[in-house]
Amino acid sequence: MSQPFNTVRGMRDIVGENARQYHSIIRKLSDIAISYGYSPLETPLLEYTSLFQKGIGDETDVVGKEMFTFVDRSGHSVSLRPEGTSSAVRALITNSLTQNLPQKWFYYGPMFRYDRPQKGRFRQFYQFGLEFFGSDNHLSDIELICLIKEAFATLQIPVAFKINTVGDEESRADFKLKLVEYLSKYENDLSEDSVRRLHSNPLRILDSKSAVDQEICSNGPKIQDSLSAEAKCFFEKVRKSLQEMEFDFIEDSSLVRGLDYYDHTVFEFVGQTSGLTLCGGGRYNRLVGQFGGPRIPAVGCAFGIDRLILEGASSGAAKAIIGVIGVEENDMVATMKLSCELHIEGVVTICPMQESFSKRLKYCDKVGALCAFILGGEERKQNKVKMKILCDSLADKVLSESTKPDLAGLHRKSDTTSAVREFLFDKAEARSFITKYILQESCSEEPTNK
Ligand code: HAM
Repeated sequence: MSQPFNTVRGMRDIVGENARQYHSIIRKLSDIAISYGYSPLETPLLEYTSLFQKGIGDETDVVGKEMFTFVDRSGHSVSLRPEGTSSAVRALITNSLTQNLPQKWFYYGPMFRYDRPQKGRFRQFYQFGLEFFGSDNHLSDIELICLIKEAFATLQIPVAFKINTVGDEESRADFKLKLVEYLSKYENDLSEDSVRRLHSNPLRILDSKSAVDQEICSNGPKIQDSLSAEAKCFFEKVRKSLQEMEFDFIEDSSLVRGLDYYDHTVFEFVGQTSGLTLCGGGRYNRLVGQFGGPRIPAVGCAFGIDRLILEGASSGAAKAIIGVIGVEENDMVATMKLSCELHIEGVVTICPMQESFSKRLKYCDKVGALCAFILGGEERKQNKVKMKILCDSLADKVLSESTKPDLAGLHRKSDTTSAVREFLFDKAEARSFITKYILQESCSEEPTNK
């Protein structure tokens, strides 16, 4: 027998509740982004490798160690995108939008990094990103942070908000000199990667995962001591506005982010349960210029959706389900027609196809349907539909209100407690029942999974 196929290491299917959560998170984040004036952006999964080398930086872990890179059939080096910012900047230039500012874009989808898989770290993972081009006002940083705060509140995820500045080019030139001078004393103790970076890109030594490197860096110079007057002033304005907004934040002088393109503000939101970074971003004022466009300041961030799911993001209640079942085989087409008619926006209807009526009814119960609309020969003759409540909380609600005038049309089949869950409706009454009891409802009971 042949071996079953597996997914590639670090990549996985997203199925069941995780898939539902994934879509719910995307919907919620998209709604929030749209309410802040962002528009959707789609870019290819594959870009020329040089885009990321130039954008993120050759000496970063992401480009130096983690890209899925290969040569295509025309001999071009291409890479699966490890992040979305470089592609968004390219798209701004490719589509001649640099004179049409501001542009506020959101995007979501898979990103690829060949890192060691572990909890919250995958080789194919999903981001929801936001990029705001065309403003160097510190208030655009604040607006983005407001949006992120709103997102975490909506997803009901408690987070710690860390912020720092990586200054401007002048600040970093001074900082680099001080850093190299300090780290050169430890050349024999630093990891091999860091020794190489000491000469090519010393700032990236600060991202090193080696414990020894981290210990050495923690006692070294800080960017705060190298800030230019302009960089200091910008960060002061950000800090003051955050205080005025009454946002809790932690100033973390060791926060540098692992990508070369940042200027001034950098931030991360860390999940209080997992300790994982759930969202990271910052300002990048040079990248459009580096890619051959004019100087256009920008600020952005990306959420890691896989991590939001791990952190227990609230996906909200599942949509209410109504089962629509035929009693006999020859009732099935009429059942499907009824299902289409009842398919009012926001209600999910299912038409089970099992071979017997009892199995069809059982299936409705299993998937958590609140009630089943039943159509048999008798009902069809009377041009009515029978409705059977399957969920206790819905039964309680209907029965406690059933003396009210607007339910006068409900005809109880019998007064015995068990049968009272069944009602005979005409189609208009069925619709008003859905509007009144089902549309805003979802069953508090778990599906029985029988
Ligand atoms: P990043 O910090 O590299 O930033 O990634 C953003 C988020 O993606 C992380 O905070 C994390 O939640 C998630 N993430 C990253 N790598 C993995 C992984 N291997 N597995 C699971 N989740 C992961 C960026 O990508 C920047 N482009 C953000 C940005 C946009 N800055 C400005 N604009």
